[in-house]
Amino acid sequence: MKMQKLGVFSFIVVTVLCGMLVYASNQAFAAEPPIKIGMIAEMTGSFSDFGFNIVNGAKAYMKEHGDTVAGRKIELIVKDVGGPSPEVSKRLAQELIVKDKVDFIAGFGFTPNALAVAPIITEAKKPTVIMNAATSIITTKSPYFVRLSMTLPQTTEPMAQWAYKNGYRKIYTLVADYGPGHDSEGAFKKAFTKLGGQVVGDSRVPLKNPEFGPYVQRMKDSKPQAVFVFLPAGEMPVAFMKSYNERGLAKAGIKLLTTGDVMNDNVQDALGDHALGVISSHHYSVDHKSPENKAFLAAFSKIDPARPNYMAVGGYDGMAAIYKVIKQLNGVIDGDKAMAAFKGMKINSPRGPITIDPATRDTIENIYIREVKKIGGHYYNVEFETYNAVKDPGK
Ligand code: PHB
Repeated sequence: MKMQKLGVFSFIVVTVLCGMLVYASNQAFAAEPPIKIGMIAEMTGSFSDFGFNIVNGAKAYMKEHGDTVAGRKIELIVKDVGGPSPEVSKRLAQELIVKDKVDFIAGFGFTPNALAVAPIITEAKKPTVIMNAATSIITTKSPYFVRLSMTLPQTTEPMAQWAYKNGYRKIYTLVADYGPGHDSEGAFKKAFTKLGGQVVGDSRVPLKNPEFGPYVQRMKDSKPQAVFVFLPAGEMPVAFMKSYNERGLAKAGIKLLTTGDVMNDNVQDALGDHALGVISSHHYSVDHKSPENKAFLAAFSKIDPARPNYMAVGGYDGMAAIYKVIKQLNGVIDGDKAMAAFKGMKINSPRGPITIDPATRDTIENIYIREVKKIGGHYYNVEFETYNAVKDPGK
């Protein structure tokens, strides 16, 4: 009987002690919760390539550099915004801030999705890292935006300058009819005509299901030496290339000049010989020769077997910037201090060296002129000329 009582007593003591231990360890964890990064990205629908590149680029950085910074675990919370959906983007940003209590917001393939969250992140003082969306004006809409990708004027202006330098005088422009398209058209016309070139015609095509045939025919009929085209990556460039070839523009000697959005690394092999010789300007090519790019490609391949593109590099560099901020703030995140830490930051990116312009919170980076070539059975944008340390000329 006595023994039984002793047994019950020891059982109670052990249970209480265990309870105290669990409580104490929970308290320790509660003192150091993870740093949460909420990602708003296009993970489904016809633009799911955007989201997968961005998120897998971010994951590749974490794979390479570990998931603990300044003693704090890093947690990614990925929210699918579908396609260009400003209302959904707004709701997701609210959820991430109020419910998930994230420390950073990141992602954004599309301009309208980034623009939509500006008032929300400003009110919440939430540092927000844009990993692609490229309309120049975005970073002026909130002091809590920082962009680790590019702007369309930044990638387009060197293309216009290169075109003039290489003897082109009459060019037709075609762009997608929304923010980055308008930016690209404006930057091309400004730089090209300033040098003495002539824009002989222009078209803006809707973002949804455009029928390219008539537009491409109009381009051909105006007999330019070249066409300059900006379309967001995805299905539009593939559909455009089909019409460009079917209507015989290349055969008629009308050169295609574009940006890396149309000559997206992801679709090079699908375009095949149709894109051979196309000249484009951009901040990143999968073919870029550097140890940083080698390391990026190796890390990315551990996350995703597909070929990455510039959006993946935006995700990777965006995480690099966030890691640097967390380190600098010793793991204690404050919105204003984080924004101060982003300004002037330098990163050895897979695309080349980049600096975050303290005045605009946009990148200062090299823009490369590239030509599509076939190497070892695959198609690449091979860089052959560099415009060094280009700032966004759109502001
Ligand atoms: C944008 O919406 O800002 C955007 C989307 C895709 C691109 C470039 C810019 O390839």
